[in-house]
Amino acid sequence: MTNIETTYAGLKLKNPIIVASSGLTDSAAKNQKMEKAGAGAIVLKSLFEEQILHETAAMACHYSGMDGCDYLETYVRQNQLANYIKLIADTKKVCTIPVIASISCYDDAGWTEFAQQIEQAGADAIEVNMMALQTGTDYAYGSFEKRHIDVLTQLKKVVSLPIIMKLGSNLTCPPALIHQLFAHGAAAVVLFNRLYQPDIDIDTMTQTSGMVFSQQADLSTTLRWLGIASAQVPQLDMAASGGIHEPQDVVKAILAGATAVEICSAIYLQGESFIAQCTEFLTEWLQSKGIPSIAEAKGKLNQKNVSNNSTFERAQFMRYYSSHEQ
Ligand SMILES: Cc1cc2nc3c(=O)[nH]c(=O)nc-3n(C[C@H](O)[C@H](O)[C@H](O)COP(=O)(O)O)c2cc1C
Repeated sequence: MTNIETTYAGLKLKNPIIVASSGLTDSAAKNQKMEKAGAGAIVLKSLFEEQILHETAAMACHYSGMDGCDYLETYVRQNQLANYIKLIADTKKVCTIPVIASISCYDDAGWTEFAQQIEQAGADAIEVNMMALQTGTDYAYGSFEKRHIDVLTQLKKVVSLPIIMKLGSNLTCPPALIHQLFAHGAAAVVLFNRLYQPDIDIDTMTQTSGMVFSQQADLSTTLRWLGIASAQVPQLDMAASGGIHEPQDVVKAILAGATAVEICSAIYLQGESFIAQCTEFLTEWLQSKGIPSIAEAKGKLNQKNVSNNSTFERAQFMRYYSSHEQ
């Protein structure tokens, strides 16, 4: 009998399809709809430290020097946190699938108390969204990676929930960081978050926003690092995120080493019926290959299992590897 249950970050999921953190998961009603559509779990929209800092800074500017300014700043922060706690509690009332809270943080300050409130509100895990660009000429190599470890270490001290680290694809050597995160008690990693895409309008000569949603071509980066990292840190659960636009892509992610997938763009573009298409295809594909479970399919085509002819570590398009003339 084919079984598409999976374990991810210590959670038992009825299937590996997780609705990724985004506007798709910012209300209890939307989350209930995702569960009805067949999702195995959901990650709530992130609470952004950056946004809270921005709002409190704006307030500080506006009311600077006035009585009660500190009070207003604290109010903004508390209000945002209270709304987020309510989102968790309301979602837990209407969903039976695991509900993963998401915090987007720059550093480890100030999040520990909030993490405790997330735990008390009933979240099943915390996903830490750490993606940020490092752009300073004075950047100290490795300091951004260290910040991941610091945040994880602080959170592990105050909550017993599984902590999932969601990474950006702009790291020099993801497997090294993933190995460190595993050693410091991460329950899983997500490869990868999606960077905001800038563009330029040459008519108005202004900077604009580029494509919001991913494309299937983005899947290659996800598969590459899953394939390499799952071979090197096989004990740690990994979720694929980025470029899953067809049910076949879910199978590819599992073969590369994922135990779950976090999907966003395809659900925005195709609707939540995409979730059932993925679970149905996955079941049929496993049956057709005589593979009884996700655990047995996981990593079958990762770098360790295809060691003689793995394409994951190839960086240059040498003529030898390509069918195209160069
Ligand atoms: C409109 C939009 C909003 C997003 N919001 C968040 C967010 O709040 N927190 C987060 O960790 N990731 C966020 N993401 C990233 C997604 O969760 C996901 O990791 C990424 O889009 C890659 O998956 P995809 O190719 O299926 O879109 C967002 C992505 C999009 C397109």
